[in-house]
Amino acid sequence: MRKQIVAGNWKMNTTPAEGAELAKAVAELSKETSANVSLIVAPPFTHLCSVSEALKGSKVALSAQNCADQAKGAYTGEVSAQMIASLGASYVILGHSERREYYGETSETLNKKMALAYANNLAPIYCVGEKLEERESEKHFDVVRAQIEEVVFQLTPEQFDQLIIAYEPVWAIGTGKTATADQAQEMHAYIRSVLAEKFGDKANNCSILYGGSCKPSNAKELFAKADVDGGLIGGASLVASDFIAIAKSF
Ligand code: 13P
Repeated sequence: MRKQIVAGNWKMNTTPAEGAELAKAVAELSKETSANVSLIVAPPFTHLCSVSEALKGSKVALSAQNCADQAKGAYTGEVSAQMIASLGASYVILGHSERREYYGETSETLNKKMALAYANNLAPIYCVGEKLEERESEKHFDVVRAQIEEVVFQLTPEQFDQLIIAYEPVWAIGTGKTATADQAQEMHAYIRSVLAEKFGDKANNCSILYGGSCKPSNAKELFAKADVDGGLIGGASLVASDFIAIAKSF
């Protein structure tokens, strides 16, 4: 019923030439994956055009890692949702913890970005997750609830139908320290229960991905959990064979 999804967030890695090669390798290897598993790659903005070309004819969909909070105009250095969509992307990652932490993104900014994503037919991959000190002080459920209420609860039911959520505990990102499968399941089930408060049964159709040091060696255990519908992969998505091995872990 729910889509199984493996998405690769390349972050600020690869040259455009390396990115095109990586995309070609992912597109080729994606033929080995189950038809039930959707694949998405999110390269840097500068690579969208050539990666879009490289993915043509494959099952792999294209995402951006961010978009501007304004539609167009005098916003030096920004890239609009319309520009991203026009290059063939169907998704945009919003609210990644690195954007919240290093670029000061707030729920207010994210609400603007979400609206522009939907207006341009980009489905958001909305990231939530607590920091280490928030988990240690047992505030993790409250933090994630606020990230959902302030942004996801502002969506219409029709918009919610398109949304993908990624739970990425900040302490697990790029640290090699993965949440245990039980910790992931506990939070994913909680997220789904919060979504159900607002969207009812539709919450059962929303794919919730796990992110944070997910790799071929731990993906199987994570994806076996009832509410873990796939992964948002950082480091391991930069190696085509690892990314595909993760996609084969359902
Ligand atoms: P890593 O897989 O490198 O921990 O990154 C996870 C992530 O932030 C994906 O968005």
